[in-house]
Amino acid sequence: MNNEKLLHKALSVTAARQYDIDSHPPFVVQSARGAWLKDCDGRDILDMTSSNGTALFGYCNDEINASIIEQISQRGAIFPTTLSPQRISLAECIIERYPAAEKAVFFRTGSDGTTAAVRMVRAYTGRRLILSSGYHGWHDWHRKFDKPGWDAQCDIFHFGYNLDILSKLLEQGQERIAGVIVTPEPGWYSVDHLKNMYQLCLQKGIPFILDEVMSGLRYGAAGLNGSGVPADLVVISKGLANGLALSCVMGKADIIDSYDAAGLAGTYNKEVTPMAAGLTALRLIKEQDPYPAALAIGSDLMTELQQAANDADVPLWVTGAPLMFKTVFSSAAIANTVTSACFEGGVLMECNGTHMVNFSFGYEEKSYAVAIFKKALSSIKHSCDFTGTGSNGLNLSLREGYARAAFGAVFEDNMSHDIERAVQPNKGGLF
Ligand SMILES: Cc1ncc(COP(=O)(O)O)c(C=O)c1O
Repeated sequence: MNNEKLLHKALSVTAARQYDIDSHPPFVVQSARGAWLKDCDGRDILDMTSSNGTALFGYCNDEINASIIEQISQRGAIFPTTLSPQRISLAECIIERYPAAEKAVFFRTGSDGTTAAVRMVRAYTGRRLILSSGYHGWHDWHRKFDKPGWDAQCDIFHFGYNLDILSKLLEQGQERIAGVIVTPEPGWYSVDHLKNMYQLCLQKGIPFILDEVMSGLRYGAAGLNGSGVPADLVVISKGLANGLALSCVMGKADIIDSYDAAGLAGTYNKEVTPMAAGLTALRLIKEQDPYPAALAIGSDLMTELQQAANDADVPLWVTGAPLMFKTVFSSAAIANTVTSACFEGGVLMECNGTHMVNFSFGYEEKSYAVAIFKKALSSIKHSCDFTGTGSNGLNLSLREGYARAAFGAVFEDNMSHDIERAVQPNKGGLF
């Protein structure tokens, strides 16, 4: 069956209209290898997403696949106890790799991991209020991640990476705050900015959680934590098992030890196969050191995409870290038009999201992607309205506008009213 027929069938038996159909180019993937996908029309498509970043080594990596097959066929996929030699060895490898890790526990998805971390700090401190910046998953406690201010129902304050607001909250709400959880956005906020957040938390004795679900193996081999950002807990996931569901919460042993008090559980946290894959992934990283080459390709790709847009006079800002960078256009509509044109040319990009190339993406793939991107820019140039943006880059207000919409960034300190309500909920809050 071809793409079109399968898309129709999907709509009637399984797919959500927006999430599954409209938010992607219309195709059904048949197989994937390295950096390439094959769709159900038999077309080869270069993938710059690595499936939300998970296929860090590329699809169908032979050694990781062999370890998955060996686990399933020789030892079994799941055991009735949470403990297996694989889990214990994986925890040891993680403790060796990440400076924050004294102890490590495992879950399935990134949302599981961040939710568990929040439950742990609440149990550890006996307090409720969580201060948050950025996206941490789709679970209920966090649905309003892009709406700055206090969410009374979930007792979460979204402070939008703003240091002044964080400082005021910590000053005024110390007695109520269970923890601070932040997702690094390296395109906008430096390592020093994150370090400052950690320092503010440290001064008040409030646990600081670094959500490195995306960056833990993509910012570098040990994420931001390995690049100088301290944390009490770190959550990693994407890439750890090269596409299999696995997340890890690591950090201070006494906080991780609040696992039981936090009421954490999960039948499939026992599954051993992702842990076997994770062990192989970390071994390969150690033996092959794939980061210098991959970071160099990612960095060249960023430079060449920016240059292509500058040459075409299309306003664009390419920003972030080489294995997780964003292309910020002057509007989501333009980004979507470019994404569609690239897809027509055979490259799957997320021009309004994050590009995450993998270790099997070489110089040939890079040149192919840049050539298709250039073609896409020339095809949209006359159909889009770039009024007010200026050429060669993107003005500050558009850069900030993207950050507000994409991850709830706050650039002005105008939240005194919300802060007051959050730190004294009995004075007119929900409690
Ligand atoms: C920083 C961050 N945290 C949490 C999540 C949630 O992970 P998952 O989609 O695996 O639940 C994501 C997913 O994109 C993420 O990027």
